[in-house]
Amino acid sequence: MANVIVVGAQFGDEGKAKVTDLLARNADVVVRYQGGANAGHTVVANGNTYKFHLIPSGILYSGKVCILGPGMVIDPKAFISEIDALMERGLDDALLRISASAHVTMPYHLILDAAEEESRGAQKIGTTKRGIGPTYADKCARSGIRMEDLLDRDVLKAKLDWMVPRKNVLLERLYNLPPLSAKEILDEYYELGQKVKKYVCDTSALIFQAVGERKNILFEGAQGTLLDLDHGSYPFVTSSSPSAGGACVGAGVGPTTIDRVIGVSKAYVTRVGEGPFPTELTDELGNKLRETGVEIGTTTGRPRRCGWFDAVLGRYSVRINGLDCLAVTKLDVLDAFEELKICTAYRDRETGETYTDLPSIGSKFQRMEPVYKTLKGWLKPTTECRSFKELPEMARQYLEFMQHELDVPVAIVSVGPKRDNTIVIEDPIHGPKRVLSKPTA
Ligand code: IMP
Repeated sequence: MANVIVVGAQFGDEGKAKVTDLLARNADVVVRYQGGANAGHTVVANGNTYKFHLIPSGILYSGKVCILGPGMVIDPKAFISEIDALMERGLDDALLRISASAHVTMPYHLILDAAEEESRGAQKIGTTKRGIGPTYADKCARSGIRMEDLLDRDVLKAKLDWMVPRKNVLLERLYNLPPLSAKEILDEYYELGQKVKKYVCDTSALIFQAVGERKNILFEGAQGTLLDLDHGSYPFVTSSSPSAGGACVGAGVGPTTIDRVIGVSKAYVTRVGEGPFPTELTDELGNKLRETGVEIGTTTGRPRRCGWFDAVLGRYSVRINGLDCLAVTKLDVLDAFEELKICTAYRDRETGETYTDLPSIGSKFQRMEPVYKTLKGWLKPTTECRSFKELPEMARQYLEFMQHELDVPVAIVSVGPKRDNTIVIEDPIHGPKRVLSKPTA
């Protein structure tokens, strides 16, 4: 029995879905704990490509309970079109469950996300426009609508009759947009509630029961640590808690339930949307990474910004998540680079000071420029390698350097999109974990 959190150790899009897919084989329950339809998880299984936005990729295996946890925000229309498309492809929804406490992304959230972004001008965040920020804002303001509210027409009506006139003030007066009708939303969303009713339950009770039965539970994070509302590069973050701590709150389990935390990092770094990115490459090398790695956002189709691997951010991620080990993805994308760089420290552009640990994730972060260690590339294909030994010498050195810099074992390496393009160096669940360093003073 092991309960494992899989978390993005960078800015999202690390290839978590492939790692979750690998680990889901031995899981009984797969739980998504935060975020909403902003996520885009791609899994290539048995020659088919699946793209997930809300539903845990564990649904690819039959017999696994798949849970959309209370920490998520769910757009019921997006959910229905996703599950319908998966069922058309022969997948089964019998064990799919949605938390009654998960918040609902309503039509005004989608409109306000786009309008707020537009109004920010140069200060825009570059959101996915899936209504994420406004849905979580209403949740925190204690005026959100939860999945269970969709099932009770009277409750839904009372909430909408209060909420919609308030949203209309914003829409009409602040953004010069047409008002919405509470009655139309009530009819449409009550109807949607009836369609998803069969999935809605108290998922935390299900998880508690699974814990008691010593089942294997996999907690699947979306986005990444540097997009975490508290620990990411605020304000260029998402509105939830993708980091490992978020799994407990977002799934409704106690921290004592968790056995392992696995971080997922690309062998380089990508970011979509605005915000600081110290190792970003805006030159030909960046284009080469983007083209080779097919770095296009799954949800929005936006090209991703690309750059060298950043060990300072990696160490930060180890700290924030308490990572036990690392899964490194897309190593093969680096196959054709003569030289590779890894950022080992930052230099403050204004003061000239250098830092090996992130001095601040706040405004100072914007001033950081990378200090690099240059490594030789391996200039050989790695996609067919199935063991650490089979990797070219320089690729092994690259991984060993990452491991040394982050002080965390690399357990898994992905060398291509297919399930079998994977090297398992150590069992990520039962193999060696990060050993705590001795206190310095
Ligand atoms: P939001 O989550 O749509 O509000 O977007 C906030 C920030 O998070 C933007 O920079 C997005 O590009 C980024 N973001 C949101 N979801 C993902 C994701 O799944 N992968 C990568 N970036 C994301």
